[in-house]
Amino acid sequence: MMNTLLLNLNEVQSLLTIEDTVEAVKAGYMAFNRGVVQMPPVVSLMAHKFNGEMDFKMGYSEQEDIIGIKMAGGYWDNPKKYNLPSGLAMICLFDAANGVPICILDGTLITGYRTAAAGTIGALCLARKDAENIAMIGTGMQARLQVMALSKYFNIKNVRVYGIEGQEKYVEEMQSQHPDIHFSATSAQEAVENAEIVITATASHNALVYDQWVKPGTHINAIGCDMEGKQELDPSIFMRAKIVNDSRMECKKRGDTQHPFKAGHITDDNIHAEIGEILLGQKCGRENENEITIFDATGLSVQDINTSLFVYRKAIKNNVGKNIEVFDVNI
Ligand SMILES: NC(=O)c1ccc[n+]([C@@H]2O[C@H](COP(=O)([O-])OP(=O)(O)OC[C@H]3O[C@@H](n4cnc5c(N)ncnc54)[C@H](O)[C@@H]3O)[C@@H](O)[C@H]2O)c1
Repeated sequence: MMNTLLLNLNEVQSLLTIEDTVEAVKAGYMAFNRGVVQMPPVVSLMAHKFNGEMDFKMGYSEQEDIIGIKMAGGYWDNPKKYNLPSGLAMICLFDAANGVPICILDGTLITGYRTAAAGTIGALCLARKDAENIAMIGTGMQARLQVMALSKYFNIKNVRVYGIEGQEKYVEEMQSQHPDIHFSATSAQEAVENAEIVITATASHNALVYDQWVKPGTHINAIGCDMEGKQELDPSIFMRAKIVNDSRMECKKRGDTQHPFKAGHITDDNIHAEIGEILLGQKCGRENENEITIFDATGLSVQDINTSLFVYRKAIKNNVGKNIEVFDVNI
């Protein structure tokens, strides 16, 4: 008998905490930089007539002997048109020893959590330890989860949010969920000028954060730009910042790093490190209070694989989910 475990979003949610996700993602980043993860380039299909895209992210963790693929949408009209998240996703995990599909699970929450974990890890490596003012550029799902995750590790006092829409709703909802933090809707400039940590999490195709607003000591988590053509940061910021990527290959193609890189403003030599190199102690993180740092995170398959594997193992232990037989091997 060959069982495949099915886990829906509610089941994933009952099994996963942000703290567990941070540990799973850290381990994944380090495995990537130890050279025990195969990750081919991301494949994207554009559904322009529906203002959408589908991304296929796959990898093989030789550390865990698990192969995984995530099929994730980016349908920007979903919240308004269908009351659905823009980033619906599904993940399949396979046993690398024999190709058996061991688990099919919702990837929507996992994408949200593993991306929030990425931002937190970026900030833990690169932001000032006393950071307490956050500039949140964006008002969507990631804008919520990034702050939720960061608040577990930093003593956040103020979140100033800017968005092209939904600022008031964001402030109202987040204020009720995080009563110890003060949330306010501001301009992007006011948010950035007053922040030690800037988080960009929009689907923008133009710069929203300008160089002249960024004060010394600021850390920027560049999260929203994960496709060719997307952009959130003024390329000039890169020229005076310590640049860290999740994957150099992916960030030069689809991260915010693409813009200064393609324009020839920076070269490979200007990219300080991949985040896993910092976690492994091979490269340094923040070195002084005045550095401007950027963590450009495009999202790696190993984040999905490690987080899903954690959820799968906990589901088996706690007897959660439903088994199906995809293959009848007697036929
Ligand atoms: N780096 C990663 O690993 C990763 C993971 C998940 C999502 N993302 C990206 O992060 C971004 C936000 O994702 P989400 O799940 O919060 O989506 P969401 O739909 O919940 O929120 C999207 C946000 O972007 C804003 N926005 C949309 N178009 C814009 C434009 N042209 N200019 C300025 N703002 C615009 C919206 O107002 C909203 O605040 C997306 O680009 C998504 O692809 C990246």
